[in-house]
Amino acid sequence: MRPNSKDVDEFCGSNSKQLLTNLLMSLVYNWVMVPVKNFRFRDAMKEVPTCVSIILTSSMGSVSGCTISSLVSVDVNEESPKILFVLQKLSRVGALIKESTPFSVNVLADQMKELAEHYSSDRQSYAEKSMPSFLTKLGVVPIIFGAPINFICRLDQVVSNYSSDVYVSHVLEFSYLDSSSPLVYQNREFRRIGERL
Ligand SMILES: Cc1cc2nc3c(=O)[nH]c(=O)nc-3n(C[C@H](O)[C@H](O)[C@H](O)COP(=O)(O)O)c2cc1C
Repeated sequence: MRPNSKDVDEFCGSNSKQLLTNLLMSLVYNWVMVPVKNFRFRDAMKEVPTCVSIILTSSMGSVSGCTISSLVSVDVNEESPKILFVLQKLSRVGALIKESTPFSVNVLADQMKELAEHYSSDRQSYAEKSMPSFLTKLGVVPIIFGAPINFICRLDQVVSNYSSDVYVSHVLEFSYLDSSSPLVYQNREFRRIGERL
């Protein structure tokens, strides 16, 4: 059966309405989404609040450290807990702990901002990063005395097929303070935790 002219009109009418709606929606979508395209991924990531930690290791009598914000637990099993963190490919501390040196990861308190800055300074001035006086040692592993959490770790494996390396580490020992106020990093600023909700 051939469609009559009324059917054709109705069909074209509803189709063109649909086309118009699609066109309008795509215009609105592009108008809303264009600014998002202008943002960089790292600008989005800077909004993510993180804790601030320092990795410390000792090699040939000198202590090396690096500030990180990438600490998370990867296995909370009490028998063999594991953490992970991410380091840039050229990391000096990363190179040291790859040599199977034990190391510590110290979660900082909010009054330890200067320490975080000290261990995140330019790679060129690395040799000048001396050990601050409030470091102490647990066996051969340097730790930050007074930090809310100290993890003593040994490297398990490095996942290196990304632009930064992922370090998965065994936690050999740890200590923590029950009530502490950790240092937070967000929007490229150091902050302290606000009021409880
Ligand atoms: C708050 C903060 C967090 C940081 N987090 C990381 C991190 O997770 N991974 C990293 O490779 N560098 C991080 N950095 C940069 C390093 O601390 C800095 O580049 C340091 O000099 C690297 O030392 P290294 O060569 O021993 O790795 C961070 C810096 C700051 C201020």
